[in-house]
Amino acid sequence: MRRTMDGFIIAVDGPVGAGKSTAARLLAKRLGYRYIDSGAMYRALAWKALQAGLDLDDEQCLRRLVDETCIALESVGDRERILVDGEDVSGHIRKREVEQASSRISTHPDVRCVMVAHQRRMAVHGGIVMDGRDIGTVVFPDADVKFYLTARLEVRANRRHLELQAVDNTRGVEELVEEITARDARDMGRHASPLRKADEAVTIDTSDLRASEVIDAMEEEIRRKAAS
Ligand code: DC
Repeated sequence: MRRTMDGFIIAVDGPVGAGKSTAARLLAKRLGYRYIDSGAMYRALAWKALQAGLDLDDEQCLRRLVDETCIALESVGDRERILVDGEDVSGHIRKREVEQASSRISTHPDVRCVMVAHQRRMAVHGGIVMDGRDIGTVVFPDADVKFYLTARLEVRANRRHLELQAVDNTRGVEELVEEITARDARDMGRHASPLRKADEAVTIDTSDLRASEVIDAMEEEIRRKAAS
């Protein structure tokens, strides 16, 4: 059944630092949609796995963990909160060890399978913008509009540097270039749902664009799709 624009599902994928979360959050606000940060869900599970001292390569153990964990996303004003079993972990999940662990645990198909089911449940009524790595390819192959955001590596590293200043500013831009390159390689090279552009996704290179210009371009595409 064809959805009206109120109920569209918008998929936003791309590598780290491409500007996905900023664009997806602002776009959702502009359209009156809900924003869902799927990366935060992997980060939240990674946080719990680290707390429990689990082996991040032990898929069975992580599968049990994801099965018994309740991950919830809430909007509070302009920000999102992520809760793990009722505990607000938003302040922990942006840290370096959690970030690296999230990239590792997300390679396991069993973990992904549970996450994807959860993400689909959150979108049953439509009216959502979800960002991640596999949203247009796996989570919502029938998404109404798909975007693939990208940017030059040095721009991505500089953005991450700015973002991380609020969290742990221990990493210089050069170190971030290496970290981003390693994370891209893992996210794009993994066997299960690797990051790739969905065939019909519209690519936006955000390197030289302001956030408002990115969302203008996205909105134009969505309206074009809605009218077609
Ligand atoms: O978007 P992010 O940087 O917060 O995501 C953290 C990690 O989670 C990322 O390195 C890969 C994984 N991830 C994923 O595999 N699939 C998604 N849909 C979102 C994130």
